[in-house]
Amino acid sequence: MTNGFFITFEGGEGGGKSTQIKLLAAALQAQHRDVIMTREPGGSVGAEEIRGLLLKGEPGRWDGATEMLLVYAARRDHVVQTVWPAMSAGKVVISDRFADSTMAYQGYGHGVDKDAVKAVHRAALGDFQPNLTLIFDLPVEIGLARAMARPDMNKSAAEDRYERMGRDFHERLRQGFLAIAKAEPARCKVIDATQSMEATHAQTLSAVLSVLDD
Ligand code: TMP
Repeated sequence: MTNGFFITFEGGEGGGKSTQIKLLAAALQAQHRDVIMTREPGGSVGAEEIRGLLLKGEPGRWDGATEMLLVYAARRDHVVQTVWPAMSAGKVVISDRFADSTMAYQGYGHGVDKDAVKAVHRAALGDFQPNLTLIFDLPVEIGLARAMARPDMNKSAAEDRYERMGRDFHERLRQGFLAIAKAEPARCKVIDATQSMEATHAQTLSAVLSVLDD
């Protein structure tokens, strides 16, 4: 597992993460690096099944703690089946969301006890964490407007449960991600997602290369 490199993309809705992941992967592949792209919830056969349970249906379908446990069941499967084998093979693994999304969405957003989230992380994955986390930050209004305006091609039409949660929820998420970044500055870099696609990519690539080439 120690040869590879694990990069996670985090942030609220409409920050352009999926576009930026593709641009980053292409840039790294152009440097002849072996890259795989994955996502959460999902990224393995079992975790993709759990994704359907999480993203479809009524906003109040799951109580926060239940949702957190479902997310971690999916995460354990994703890491064991996909992330660790790729890292063992020396690959750069780029994941669209990971554990910080649980702390932000279920912890800060839905008020699930943050120590409980940390305890479940430890039970599922020990002290495994990404080598680098990029947090795509932008004001809630801009993010939600973008998310509504351009449908995400990676998501089915029914998978909009989180986008339908209220504005206050999304503001708590944003503050949650920023608090995580502040608490772990060595792992997390905040990317200004209000910039143009090109400028955001340039900031992303430089943050990644400064750690990858370290
Ligand atoms: P998205 O990444 O395509 O926006 O969709 C994933 C949704 O799942 C997103 O709204 C955030 C949510 N989510 C959580 O609530 N907790 C988690 O731990 C993860 C990985 C995602």
